Amino acid sequence: MTQAMRGRTDQDYEKFIADILQMTGLDLSNYKEKQMRRRINGLMDLLGIQSYAEYVQVLKNDPAKYDQFVKRLTINVSEFFRNPERWQVLETRFIPMLLAEKPDLRLWSAGCSNGPEPYSLAILMLELAPQGNHQILATDVDKVVLAQAQQGEYTIQQLRHVSPPRLAKYFTPLGNDRYAVKPEVKRLIKFRRHNLLTDPFEKDLDLILCRNVVIYFTEEAKHILYQKFFAALRPGGMLMVGGTEPLLRYKEYGFIALDTAFYQRPEGR
Ligand SMILES: C[S@@+](CC[C@H](N)C(=O)[O-])C[C@H]1O[C@@H](n2cnc3c(N)ncnc32)[C@H](O)[C@@H]1O
Repeated sequence: MTQAMRGRTDQDYEKFIADILQMTGLDLSNYKEKQMRRRINGLMDLLGIQSYAEYVQVLKNDPAKYDQFVKRLTINVSEFFRNPERWQVLETRFIPMLLAEKPDLRLWSAGCSNGPEPYSLAILMLELAPQGNHQILATDVDKVVLAQAQQGEYTIQQLRHVSPPRLAKYFTPLGNDRYAVKPEVKRLIKFRRHNLLTDPFEKDLDLILCRNVVIYFTEEAKHILYQKFFAALRPGGMLMVGGTEPLLRYKEYGFIALDTAFYQRPEGR
């Protein structure tokens, strides 16, 4: 059957994007089209749905299918201290640098998935400056993963980079190789739903982590995002990205490159 017969032409996809935007506020035109379409088509095939028009109706009427759709678009694999050598640099160099300027830090894990990233950050803050009144904001567009993040329960696989002393100190064993984050770690974090492509950003942040989130964003969407991150940081504040996601145009935004994956908004700018 041709794409036209199935109701999956380029025009059908454009209409689908417009319908989804109107329905959910999620703007699929900011995501790379080929990858997105492959994922969406895969989901539709799985559900036995032919046309994009039919799929919009299903998404409107079936919240479970809608949640499945968001999940599929945004892949949310995560683990504690992901890429441990970058976390080592954050722990030994950059958080101490920020703490030398301010005792209480405002940190943002943008695209936090089910929580390992903000919890890893909270553990570092408890160890490096336990007296501080730090705030960690953790956001994601997907409310299903945010609910899991708030729950704070993980398999040993997601905890493989957590050292045994940290595991003993900050987690409660639940049995069956599952662990729950302790309340004193949770206390530092506020979880909130937030779409990086459309929602307003906070101001005066000391550190933003945005790692493994932008891989399906178009160049244009990334360009806008990095300018907004720059504006959201205080002068002297830092941005940490994924190890394989360097900001090619960092100078254009005003950043200084500090180390692999770390950028700084210079003092006085
Ligand atoms: C692979 S996870 C990354 C989790 C964590 N940062 C890490 O590195 O382990 C990507 C997350 O980005 C989120 N995401 C995708 N598009 C987003 C958007 N427009 N706004 C906010 N979060 C988004 C997804 O829901 C997903 O949870």
